[in-house]
Amino acid sequence: MSRTKAKSQAGEVLLEAKGLTKSYYAGKRELPVVKGVDLAVKPGEVLVICGPSGAGKSTLLHMLGLLDPPTGGKVFYDGEEVSTASAGRRAFIRNRRFGFVFQFYHLLPDLNVTENTLLPLMITESIFSWYSARRRRREKVEGVLASMGLGERLKHRPSQLSGGERQRAAIARALVNDPVLLFCDEPTGNLDTKTTGEILEVLWRIKDEFKQTLVVVTHNVELAKQGTRRLNMIDGKLYKPD
Ligand SMILES: Nc1ncnc2c1ncn2[C@@H]1O[C@H](COP(=O)(O)OP(=O)(O)O)[C@@H](O)[C@H]1O
Ligand SMILES: [Mg+2]
Repeated sequence: MSRTKAKSQAGEVLLEAKGLTKSYYAGKRELPVVKGVDLAVKPGEVLVICGPSGAGKSTLLHMLGLLDPPTGGKVFYDGEEVSTASAGRRAFIRNRRFGFVFQFYHLLPDLNVTENTLLPLMITESIFSWYSARRRRREKVEGVLASMGLGERLKHRPSQLSGGERQRAAIARALVNDPVLLFCDEPTGNLDTKTTGEILEVLWRIKDEFKQTLVVVTHNVELAKQGTRRLNMIDGKLYKPD
């Protein structure tokens, strides 16, 4: 389903980074954080980038997900150079092709689970399609929430949910636009061991059920072992594990 949105076939490259760098500046002093990353992600992969806190994982993920511009280098999505594309084009790809799951869920506290999950659709749909497709949209949102085990929590606010349920709601929100690529930044970083297992089970199931390609960054070595491919990030650079 979602694969049809990308031209790439299995074996080809879906997302690519070439010579990616990012520096922050304290006055005139440069603080290099990502120091030249080359990376190619193939459709259907679960790539886990593992490294200690401060290695530059979130910074890298934000550049790959077009949330933050690189200082140097390029990002290609499905063969198109997107790092230098217009803001509108980058927003289109981010909203329609990418999904994001973060450590701290980033659910809006005043919206219930259904409304939080609807948000990405509000951004992508025109006013006309918004009104004409109400039933389809509700079925979609409720279907994704049910698939995340939240069918009985549709009207709950985030504060009324457990940590695991909040993360499952955030995953549902990330999936509602059928993204081709799902970016996860420490998706289990705020959860206990049992809930971590539950969220990982959900993530691996998504990969099979929704045919997503996953790029996960984490400091959790156990999580890193469960991907289809692992790279280590140390001090702004990627390394193949020994
Ligand atoms: N907006 C920023 N301004 C200045 N320094 C930053 C900023 N964001 C991150 N850094 C620094 O970049 C380094 C890497 O951060 P980050 O990518 O969050 O690492 P990780 O996700 O691996 O823990 C850290 O030393 C951090 O302090
Ligand atoms: Mg981080």
